[in-house]
Amino acid sequence: MLSSIQSMVRSAYQNKYAVPHFNISNLEIARYILEVCEEMRSPVVIAVTETAVKYMGGYKVAANLVTSLIEDLDITVPVGLILDHGKTFESCKKAIDVGFNGVMVGAPNLSIDENIELTNRVIAYARSKDVYVEGEIVADVDNQQTEHSKAECINDAIKLVGETDIDALAPEIGSSHGISDEAVEIDFESMEIISNNAHIPLVMHGGSGIPDHMIIKSITNGVAKINIDSEFRVAWTANARKFLNDNLKTYDLRQVNIATKEAIKEVARTKILLFGSNYKSLE
Ligand code: G3H
Ligand code: ZN
Repeated sequence: MLSSIQSMVRSAYQNKYAVPHFNISNLEIARYILEVCEEMRSPVVIAVTETAVKYMGGYKVAANLVTSLIEDLDITVPVGLILDHGKTFESCKKAIDVGFNGVMVGAPNLSIDENIELTNRVIAYARSKDVYVEGEIVADVDNQQTEHSKAECINDAIKLVGETDIDALAPEIGSSHGISDEAVEIDFESMEIISNNAHIPLVMHGGSGIPDHMIIKSITNGVAKINIDSEFRVAWTANARKFLNDNLKTYDLRQVNIATKEAIKEVARTKILLFGSNYKSLE
């Protein structure tokens, strides 16, 4: 049984911590994450992107995987399931229809007016089923650092919040997806302005590799959900690679995943402690 993402995020926003949003791409990562959340009494949003859905076999597989793990592992902390970066109404609808209780509308190539239109269409469908909807504003990628693009991002963010009924907003203000060699620069000034004007929880995408002090400052500025994907992939890959190199003759593929378990769990534990979501399960 999934728990309301709206309640989780609202509670985090009011009490100044962040709900971990952890992306999964297979059974093992989902399982290790859920086990850690249970152990640490942390609510969690499990996230699946459209690409991960395709990889896993379909929306129903992804939804059933997560709900079955909750049941079979006796997970008692609140768990939500979100379609991450849903690019079309159709993909959001498919996810909702099979039981996802959250969707993020992430269509970066749309104009602000088209974004508002798509977001409202998704909300109209989602609301009848009590599904959380997250909106996104993407800055002009070629011009991110200019004052003009910053002002535009702030205006668009406030407009999106004003003209839709989104539960939370993901403004792109510095954190980028993946692991980068470049120093992270979060635009805290814009974050503060958006937060003070939007009055709704903010979401930080691209949470991997963000220095701890920036995460803490973001939470004090209204960020109530933080998305992590790449750090799990890095942990999985490094440990699977080492195991295979050390065990050239093995063909027990289960052992490969087991070799990644502790590293995956450590990423989840570290983020939960940093976000302050341990012992914040609502039940
Ligand atoms: O939506 C997913 C996240 O934004 C993940 O970003 O891969 O940088 O952790 P990340
Ligand atoms: Zn993202």
